Amino acid sequence: MTDIDGREAVAVASDHAGYELKEVIKPTLVELGYAVQDLGTHGPESVDYPAYGKTMADAIARGEVSRGVLVCGTGIGISIAANRNPAVRAVVCHNVFTARLARQHNDGNVLALGARVIDAETARACVRVFFRTAFEGGRHARRVDMLG
Ligand code: RB5
Repeated sequence: MTDIDGREAVAVASDHAGYELKEVIKPTLVELGYAVQDLGTHGPESVDYPAYGKTMADAIARGEVSRGVLVCGTGIGISIAANRNPAVRAVVCHNVFTARLARQHNDGNVLALGARVIDAETARACVRVFFRTAFEGGRHARRVDMLG
């Protein structure tokens, strides 16, 4: 785990469609006690989501951050990009139920959100649950190991 000033380091990244929601989510992660690294994008200009999914995956694979939140229009494209890296289990979540199960059963390490799919309050709730729910291990650990 990478610490910054005693706080666990996590990252956020988005494309242009997810930029506003990324900005909304950052204070929620700070409230939860994390040191937040913003990997971009830093404005509403059109960019390509695969680059930001890859940047997040590289930061996790290098151990610079433990976990992260990705945002694009649907959460789909940017999670596909991040999941190309075997260090990443990026999970698209639409509600607190999927955010909780993504941790308990799948040991997800990147929460992917769709800014054109869910509202800001739902997104904040997903972040709170995702970052405060433990992996259950047991039979789920065997299955997660099988993912490679
Ligand atoms: C950008 O228009 C949009 O395609 C992107 O944010 C994302 O939804 C892709 O999966």
